[in-house]
Amino acid sequence: MKKLVIIMMLLAFVGANVAIAADSYTYDSKKGTVTFDHKAHQAKLADDCAKCHEGTPAKIEVDKKFGHKTCKACHKKMEGPTKCNDCHKK
Ligand code: HEC
Ligand code: HEC
Ligand code: HEC
Repeated sequence: MKKLVIIMMLLAFVGANVAIAADSYTYDSKKGTVTFDHKAHQAKLADDCAKCHEGTPAKIEVDKKFGHKTCKACHKKMEGPTKCNDCHKK
C-alpha cells in the first residue's frame, strides 16, 4: 500500500512537469473566434519561449487584455496581424 502511494505521488509529480502545449488553441468570443497556433509561433520565434512565457513555460490565461496587449504588441513590432478580423474570425 505504501509503495502504491509513493508510485502515485511520483506519477502525479511527473505528470505536472511534462505539461506540453497543444499545437493550437482557439478562443471563442462575441467578436469572433481567435486561433492561436502555438506550434507555428514557436517556430517563427525560434523557440524563444520567453517572448511570451515568464519563467518555466506554463498555462497562460488568454483574455482580452493578453490578446490586445501581448499578442498585438508583438504583431505591431514584427509585422504580424493587427486588424480586428486578422485575429477574430466569424
Ligand atoms: C507567441 C507566444 C508564445 C511562445 C513564443 C511560446 N508560447 Fe507556450 N503558450 C502561449 C500561450 C498563449 C499559451 C496558453 C494557451 C492556452 O492555454 O490558452 C501557452 C501555453 C503553453 C504551455 C501550457 C500548456 C498547457 O495547456 O498546460 C506550455 C507547456 C508551453 N506553452 C510551452 C512553451 C514552450 C516550451 C515554448 C518555447 C519553446 C513556448 N511555449 C513558446 C504562448 C507562447
Ligand atoms: C512575440 C511575438 C508574437 C506574439 C506574442 C504573438 N504573435 Fe502572433 N504572430 C507573430 C508573427 C511574427 C506573426 C506573423 C508570421 C508570418 O506572417 O509569418 C504572427 C501571426 C499570427 C497570426 C496569423 C496566422 C499565423 O499563425 O501565421 C495569428 C492569427 C496570430 N499571430 C495570433 C496570435 C495570438 C492570438 C497571440 C496571443 C495569444 C499571438 N499571435 C502572439 C508574432 C507573435
Ligand atoms: C492579435 C490578435 C487580436 C487582434 C488584432 C484583436 N484582438 Fe480582440 N481579442 C484577442 C484575444 C486573444 C482575445 C481574448 C479571447 C477572446 O475573447 O476571444 C480578444 C478579445 C476581444 C474582445 C472580448 C470578447 C468577449 O467575448 O469578451 C473584444 C470585444 C475584442 N477582442 C475586440 C477586438 C477589436 C474591436 C479589435 C480591432 C480593433 C480586436 N479585438 C483586435 C485578439 C485580438
